Amino acid sequence: MATNETPNGITPPLWLLAEITYQCPLHCPYCSNPVNMEETHNELSTEHWERVLKQARDMGAVQLGFSGGEPLLRPDLEHLVSYARELGFYTNLITSGIGMTEKRIARLKEAGLDHIQLSFQAANAEVNDLIGNKRHSFEQKLKIAKLVKQYAYPMVLNFCITAQNIHEIEEVMALSEQLNADFVELATVQYYGWAYENREHLLPTSAQLQDAEAKVNRYRAHQAGEGPTFIFVTPDYYETRPKACMNGWGTTFLTITPDGSALPCHSAKILPLTFPNIKNRSLQDIWYNDFSFNHFRGDSWMPLPCKTCDEKEKDFGGCRCQAYLLTGDMYKTDPVCSKSPDHHVMKSITDKAGDKPTKALQYRKVERAIPVKLIPDTTKA
Ligand code: FES
Repeated sequence: MATNETPNGITPPLWLLAEITYQCPLHCPYCSNPVNMEETHNELSTEHWERVLKQARDMGAVQLGFSGGEPLLRPDLEHLVSYARELGFYTNLITSGIGMTEKRIARLKEAGLDHIQLSFQAANAEVNDLIGNKRHSFEQKLKIAKLVKQYAYPMVLNFCITAQNIHEIEEVMALSEQLNADFVELATVQYYGWAYENREHLLPTSAQLQDAEAKVNRYRAHQAGEGPTFIFVTPDYYETRPKACMNGWGTTFLTITPDGSALPCHSAKILPLTFPNIKNRSLQDIWYNDFSFNHFRGDSWMPLPCKTCDEKEKDFGGCRCQAYLLTGDMYKTDPVCSKSPDHHVMKSITDKAGDKPTKALQYRKVERAIPVKLIPDTTKA
């Protein structure tokens, strides 16, 4: 038994993602936030967040991501960073940079913030501001990138790559180099939340992906060990094996949403399960005992062919949210897997990439609600 393993075999969460607000000045059509964001109006208080951080740290969590929406919109961010640092967390700020100022970055530094990940929508103002649906945001991001360096943070950039900007991947790499980035994630979007809604507009073709990957490899070859490290992420839809989503459900990652819902992954609310809330349960009780957290732990829930697959320890059955979105059944094998009886779904989607979309692009906004039929918690009387 690993030293941090409890007697019932459940390991504590190591990574806490604190989605402190869903409010955001940008409106990216690939946002991974849920399309149902009613909790925007019911955000946790500072005291609630302090309780979450303390309880997570007591359980053994070491990495903390402040995310959103745009976490800079919370005026208590500096206080929460400082409190988290006092508790011993390694703190990450995942931000668009909109709302950051030199005063604020100085205050965050003083509060002990360890790491900033800055997102860009593209390598030029025209495309960047169009995708985020906000004027002058590119200009602001450039300013913030310089401040990140000036305040001695590692420069970590994230570019969301879609059919809208994949042809500019060389410009993206050149800009990253100009900005003296250390790590750059060229993250082709995965299809959850708003990205799923807008997939027809966003999914690159196989030829576009191959071309982009070849350009990244050529660029890397010319770097001769200098400049940024580029990480190219392929969308699941073109893979033949599923990713080990969240390193396995309820093993490592714990997400708390703005209204206090505790989730094993940031997308889980789309699933027909009832998720607990930190307002009325301790994190410890939620993590170790809640029906939803236990639901996809281990392999007893797995269908064939996952149950007998010799790769099940590697991918833990793939992604439950993806299985639900693409088959309507969260218990099914992730259709990304070529062994899944539903794998043909992936081909029918990727074959249509590049076709004229059948509906208009939807920019992220905050007032939609999607009703789901919930599966009752049978462990409760
Ligand atoms: Fe929810 Fe993969 S995103 S399980």
